[in-house]
Amino acid sequence: MPTKEDLHRFLRTRRSVRRFKPDPIPASVIEEILTTATFAPSAHNRQPWRFCVVSDLPAKTHLAEAMVSKYQHELENDKYTSDEILHLVARSKDRILSAPVVIILSVDMSDMDTYPDKHRKKAEYIMATQSTANAGMHILLAAHAEGLGAVWVCSPLFAQETVQSALDLPKTWEPQAMYFLGYPAKIPEVRERKSLNDVLISMEM
Ligand SMILES: Cc1cc2nc3c(=O)[nH]c(=O)nc-3n(C[C@H](O)[C@H](O)[C@H](O)COP(=O)(O)O)c2cc1C
Repeated sequence: MPTKEDLHRFLRTRRSVRRFKPDPIPASVIEEILTTATFAPSAHNRQPWRFCVVSDLPAKTHLAEAMVSKYQHELENDKYTSDEILHLVARSKDRILSAPVVIILSVDMSDMDTYPDKHRKKAEYIMATQSTANAGMHILLAAHAEGLGAVWVCSPLFAQETVQSALDLPKTWEPQAMYFLGYPAKIPEVRERKSLNDVLISMEM
């Protein structure tokens, strides 16, 4: 049985890993990780998370090309130079192709409560995306438990329709993030944390 010190060490040693060995991840390991993700807490226990696993090269290439094409248009509109665009687009595509497994995480509002007013609608939507993010955190931690490296990538949030149509996801699935998973080629150093005192107010009445 791990001690509480072991568990704190486990939580504190998770890093965002961005370089992977090409070794494939067994399907059973991905299933185990996603099953653990479904144990995340969710508002009203409605479990609004949805997962799409992309691991074969043609599917990864199709996704990468759709995403970088949109990214390229945005960079052109933002007036980046053509050299910068070539570099950023190639890097973005390479990151998707070199990840042995890509998991797209979506939120589905179908089972959430509905309200007639904007304020409560917004709160309910935030609760659903917070719940979905919890499943994302569980993916990172379960990958860590399996000795895998993983990183959370936010680009699907900026290209929701592109990702949805490239992967032919159900219309109610709204992409929120993607996760690159693989056996780590390099585990980065721990990134600096704000000290607890900088982010904490202790109330004493
Ligand atoms: C909501 C969210 C979005 C992120 N988006 C990206 C991303 O697009 N690309 C990336 O390389 N890392 C991304 N990260 C990873 C963060 O950069 C990383 O968690 C942070 O630098 C701390 O490093 P650590 O995870 O190794 O502790 C994201 C993390 C979160 C929680």
